[in-house]
Amino acid sequence: FVKDRLIIAVDGPSGSGKSSVCRAAATQLGADYLDTGAMYRAATWYCLDQQVDLDNEDAVAFAVEELPLKISTDPQHQVITIGQTDVTEAIREPRISEAVSEVATNRKARQLLINAQRRIIDESGFIVAEGRDITTVVAPDAQVRVLLTASAEARLRRRGLQLESESGAAQSAEALQRQVLERDKKDSAASNFTEAADGVAVLDSSDLSFQETVDSLLSRIAAVQQSD
Ligand code: DC
Repeated sequence: FVKDRLIIAVDGPSGSGKSSVCRAAATQLGADYLDTGAMYRAATWYCLDQQVDLDNEDAVAFAVEELPLKISTDPQHQVITIGQTDVTEAIREPRISEAVSEVATNRKARQLLINAQRRIIDESGFIVAEGRDITTVVAPDAQVRVLLTASAEARLRRRGLQLESESGAAQSAEALQRQVLERDKKDSAASNFTEAADGVAVLDSSDLSFQETVDSLLSRIAAVQQSD
């Protein structure tokens, strides 16, 4: 099959299982993997580290322009560094999740990160790239374009499980629901990922197990590879 130059673009809301599904699919394919959300998170970490006023659009854009970011594309070994600092774990902290939409809605910063994402995808040529605007803006020409969705209920359930395993404590259902819905609202200010654009296939994982979701994505990819 044609292995070189196959771009797989996957978008979806937080809690859709996107990252783990894409990492597993990339691993199975032997492809690279790009988590674009991690780039927005890293940019946010840097702005906070540099004490950039997040309300100051130009200052944020300036910081992102000089952002010394390195992101690995190995699906089994994600390492993100800024300068000499390994921020792989730090970018997942709540303080980053709370501030990241300020960077994601900054038009100049967004364009800079989109350019960087296009370069990484282009250099790889065989990659699963996931985010919110990959199927529409970053890589609209990707051979495989999928919107991975899950009902709010399913995402809440998974998020609850994830938090429980991270902190050992279950959060109240109400608090969780508020977080997930608030996050959706904030995120959709930066890009519309709730509806599939023309030519983008919807993969609804609400009633699928993790492995079923991965398999479904892989079979879509295989179908495209065969028709190449
Ligand atoms: O997927 P995530 O939760 O790590 O994403 C972090 C933030 O970045 C989230 O607020 C949405 C935003 N994002 C974006 O605007 N565009 C992307 N392609 C990826 C993420």
